[in-house]
Amino acid sequence: MSASHEAPPGKITPQILQARKHRNEPITMLTAYDYPTSLALDKAGIDVILVGDSLGMVVLGYETTLPVTMEDMLHHCKAVARAARHAHLVGDMPFMSYQVSTAEAVRNAGRFVQEAGMDAVKLEGGRERAAAIKKIVSAGIPVMGHLGLTPQSVRQLGGWKTQATSTQTARRLVQDAHILENAGCYALVLESIPGRVAELVKDRLRVPVIGIGAGAACDGQVLVTHDLLGLFERFTPCFVKKYADLHSLLTEAFKAYIEDVRVRRFPSSEHTFTIDDSAFEQVREELQRPRRRKAHPGQLQAVISRSQ
Ligand code: KIV
Repeated sequence: MSASHEAPPGKITPQILQARKHRNEPITMLTAYDYPTSLALDKAGIDVILVGDSLGMVVLGYETTLPVTMEDMLHHCKAVARAARHAHLVGDMPFMSYQVSTAEAVRNAGRFVQEAGMDAVKLEGGRERAAAIKKIVSAGIPVMGHLGLTPQSVRQLGGWKTQATSTQTARRLVQDAHILENAGCYALVLESIPGRVAELVKDRLRVPVIGIGAGAACDGQVLVTHDLLGLFERFTPCFVKKYADLHSLLTEAFKAYIEDVRVRRFPSSEHTFTIDDSAFEQVREELQRPRRRKAHPGQLQAVISRSQ
């Protein structure tokens, strides 16, 4: 392989993530949906940026992730890709972009890489996704799996409920994790499952297991950035640690602006452009001179006809 086809220096690859697992070094992953967030995450040194379909809830204001389209995802992935130089970029395949047929799944996965600058795709589900995953991987696109609480199945799951809490469902989840690894997934997200079940999976899989609400034993952790920053005010899952309250901070900043404008405190002289004194005096004088009225074309016509 020529140097120009290798990942740029410092770019995180699936191979680096897998090496991290084997060295027992935790993998860090957060979501981003826009350029400034992606830039800040990349500068902070995050390993993986997920352009999650959580976009639908935390940015677009939908009740679930179900209305998110391929076009929504590609638009936001492109913005994220413009900023990130170091992080591994994962585009989340939206509802109905990979479930209908494996051919559609491969074509849509390809768009994330070819059009939107993603390094990999993520899709939800277990054994029922194995065929699509194999095809996408055989097209040269790395796939991250997602098991446990899979939000695109929220209607089937009967709500946002913790998964794999019984012997039967925990057993099925462990089996699914093996099936996804064998289908070619290079990493797996486990969402909202008991920590001990996540640990079982992590110990049995060669590929990294990244948890969200899945306890501390996982090979890495992911959160929705808007939850961590306190930017999504509708609800905060109990497994989220809030590192800031940006919603309150934004509201306070907006209130301060509104008040400044109302009492004419903003803009002040430091926010106002200036003009040279002599240039300004000249224009003001010109404007003060009595204006010579220009004849209207109709008036001119009247003068001409009266003089004839
Ligand atoms: O869409 C998303 O943000 C996700 C994470 C919750 C893993 O899938």
